[in-house]
Amino acid sequence: MHIVNTVDALRVLIHTWKAAGERIAFVPTMGNLHAGHCQLVKAAKEKADKVVVSIFVNPTQFGVGEDFDSYPRTEAQDQDKLRAIATDVVFQPTVLEMYSPHAKTVVSVTGLSELYCGASRVGHFDGVATVVCKLFNMVQPDIALFGLKDFQQLAVIRTMVKDLNMPVEIIGIETVRETNGLAMSSRNGYLTPEQRQTAHVLYQVLCQAREAILAGNGDYANVEQQALLALQQAGFQPDYFRVCRSNDLASAQLDDTELVLLTAAKLGKTRLIDNLSFTR
Ligand code: PAJ
Repeated sequence: MHIVNTVDALRVLIHTWKAAGERIAFVPTMGNLHAGHCQLVKAAKEKADKVVVSIFVNPTQFGVGEDFDSYPRTEAQDQDKLRAIATDVVFQPTVLEMYSPHAKTVVSVTGLSELYCGASRVGHFDGVATVVCKLFNMVQPDIALFGLKDFQQLAVIRTMVKDLNMPVEIIGIETVRETNGLAMSSRNGYLTPEQRQTAHVLYQVLCQAREAILAGNGDYANVEQQALLALQQAGFQPDYFRVCRSNDLASAQLDDTELVLLTAAKLGKTRLIDNLSFTR
């Protein structure tokens, strides 16, 4: 497994593989890898000849007072995990390698980036779109894999790729969960043992809301209110719970059939997000 820290070193490898006609898959991450990330890498391996994984805790997608400094950095363990699943390259740039202090360009997927998580994390999705655009230019992958866990992030990336005619196929991979339903996340590590007992309720509430809709409740405002109440009662401070249509994340209307429930809630200081897609 190659471990590279510079764009120049990465380009040499990519150039050699492209010249040999090899298909390149890319999995961007912020490290602290868990089974969810590994699922993306394994899927990538099945779909391409070479797999590049980036590990970069991207400062521009963290707001003031968010967890950029405390975000878990576990390089050695991450490399072991990636080696075990036959990753070809780990790209681990420094902040300076990624961002020139003189950079002037930001990629912004307007509208979509201001909704839901974007409303409470102002500028977050601009940071994500910008770093993913830059990483795509560095890696030049044929395909890139993202988790459905971050449903809005995936929608932002798909929109960016389409709007800017980027020659990369975006593949969404199902959320990997603990046995109790809790979506795996690097931020789960912040939870206390007690909060860990409660965290899976986020997924339970999503499932209950889906059941209510499938049982015929078409009053989505009511479904959202019930869900917010259930989260509060379990000890969460909910940020939002929304019934959306899957294709553009607008509020669902009664004639929409492809739905996604999007939610974010704090448990103590830890912000958790999750979602559930289904056909009505
Ligand atoms: P990170 O949170 O490290 O996630 C990297 C990728 O793993 C994302 O595509 C995310 O959706 C996916 N992922 C996380 N948890 C998952 C789970 N339980 N099941 C399946 N996939 C999961 O998302 C980011 O990093 C960053 O925003 C990034 C795209 C790298 C840009 O900085």
